[in-house]
Amino acid sequence: MKINKLGSNALPVSEVGLGCWQLGAEWGVDFDKGGAEAILQAAIDGGVRFFDTADVYGNGKSERFIGDFLASAPKASTGLLSPHGDKNPVTVATKYGRNGGIYPDGYSWDGIRWAIDASRERLQTDMLDLLQLHCVPFAILKGGKVWDWLQRLQSDGWIKGFGASVETVEEGLFCLEHEGMQSLQVIMNVMRQKPLEELLPKAADKGVGIIVRLPLNSGLLSGKMQVDTAFAKTDHRNFNRDGAAFNVGETFGGLPFEKGVALAQQLKERYTSSELSLPQLALRWLLDQPAVTTIIPGASRPSQAATNAAVAKLAPLSEETHAELSRFYQSEVAAHIRGPY
Ligand SMILES: NC(=O)c1ccc[n+]([C@@H]2O[C@H](COP(=O)([O-])OP(=O)(O)OC[C@H]3O[C@@H](n4cnc5c(N)ncnc54)[C@H](OP(=O)(O)O)[C@@H]3O)[C@@H](O)[C@H]2O)c1
Repeated sequence: MKINKLGSNALPVSEVGLGCWQLGAEWGVDFDKGGAEAILQAAIDGGVRFFDTADVYGNGKSERFIGDFLASAPKASTGLLSPHGDKNPVTVATKYGRNGGIYPDGYSWDGIRWAIDASRERLQTDMLDLLQLHCVPFAILKGGKVWDWLQRLQSDGWIKGFGASVETVEEGLFCLEHEGMQSLQVIMNVMRQKPLEELLPKAADKGVGIIVRLPLNSGLLSGKMQVDTAFAKTDHRNFNRDGAAFNVGETFGGLPFEKGVALAQQLKERYTSSELSLPQLALRWLLDQPAVTTIIPGASRPSQAATNAAVAKLAPLSEETHAELSRFYQSEVAAHIRGPY
């Protein structure tokens, strides 16, 4: 597994990370400690050294699982000791801004200190590796105070660095203008390619790392979904399918579900083979993008975390396949994406 350096702090992150929203149980599966540990361990065994979480995932549950897992893992002075003996440390990124009723306008210095202290306690560390603003409203980003708070948390030694998770290219470009930004987290995948046009080149110019979420478009790019696939009541792929609870782009990348299923089927027929499955194609496409620092596929079971990590071992896609996937997106997909993007 390749270890990349994120931002000017050069935080070490594996090119394939693990998204840990699922561990907080909002996807319908209520993980117990053993279930969560099995997913985290499968990722570690596959070479993953980057976990993405948030205080809001299960109201701290996801952070607590990660904190307990890392605290009980065999340690070397430089970090977690994998079964294969390497000593690459695990970097953990968390987020602030969507928990405890503060969204959309309850942000304050006292509030952020309280929240970060709670994340430190759950993650069992004095200094968070990376704190990301969690899709806070554009008005709050523009208000400016939140950037001062992040700088202060850093100079107080509570966080090593900070970044932002955003929903639109416009927000991303705005965040890139701020001093000290280490990372930008964006929604991007074969079915959502807009960040490639302007945002990623600009981030690369500024030395800001890119963390890609929804690399499988909420699982659409697994290729296993049918129009009648049912999701649990508490799974956002049920209740936020059309953006009823939060930005529609966070669920299936903003595509209407039936359209997304049909597009995934087309991709499968045209570009996959017995050697390359649809999720492998989708993740490899992202790893081939030079401005991407790490991708954070979520996993609902250990085998998914293992399969996703193993994509790092696959050969890059050909230039021809990249060109075709770009044309496919422009001609078949882009017009169907809903919501601010
Ligand atoms: N606002 C934000 O900052 C924000 C928002 C969303 C997500 N995130 C972060 O980004 C991470 C990733 O995004 P995401 O989890 O929403 O979407 P994703 O990674 O595109 O999709 C994850 C889902 O795809 C399915 N899957 C994963 N690997 C698979 C495989 N190898 N084969 C078949 N199916 C597979 C699983 O669902 P099933 O098995 O249930 O089908 C899994 O729950 C999250 O965990 C979270 O850490 C951040």
